[in-house]
Amino acid sequence: MSRIALASDHAGFELKEALRDELKGLGHDVLDLGTDSLDSVDYPDFGRKAAEAVAAGEAEAGVIVCGTGIGISIAANRVPGARTALCHDITTARLSREHNDANILALGARVIGTETARDCVRAFLETPFAGGRHQRRVDKLG
Ligand code: RB5
Repeated sequence: MSRIALASDHAGFELKEALRDELKGLGHDVLDLGTDSLDSVDYPDFGRKAAEAVAAGEAEAGVIVCGTGIGISIAANRVPGARTALCHDITTARLSREHNDANILALGARVIGTETARDCVRAFLETPFAGGRHQRRVDKLG
């Protein structure tokens, strides 16, 4: 079991709620950083919170959601130590771990369905970093 930081803006709220149940069902401890309703909020606040939790070691990984996944992933990647991957399917989720050692998965609630999002979460959390030549490249990310 690991601790997963989970956050979204209002556009990602309903998918975040579904993914919290999915994560708990997989046996993870969930650090839910909001938002807590459909009321309009600003995605940078939530991307940053999740990334800071991961960078500080308060969570081993993060899952973040906004409408497209774009804004919240940009916000999260401005936190040193965050490697956020915006994924739309099981393949990008798997490769973001194997090749990029991503520690935060970003999803777009207005772009993918709930089942695909669940697939992405499972692939992201179950896939180890491949290391080898990829380690050198990840090191260059800073
Ligand atoms: C909110 O309307 C929307 O702009 C946000 O969720 C996200 O898609 C931004 O990238």
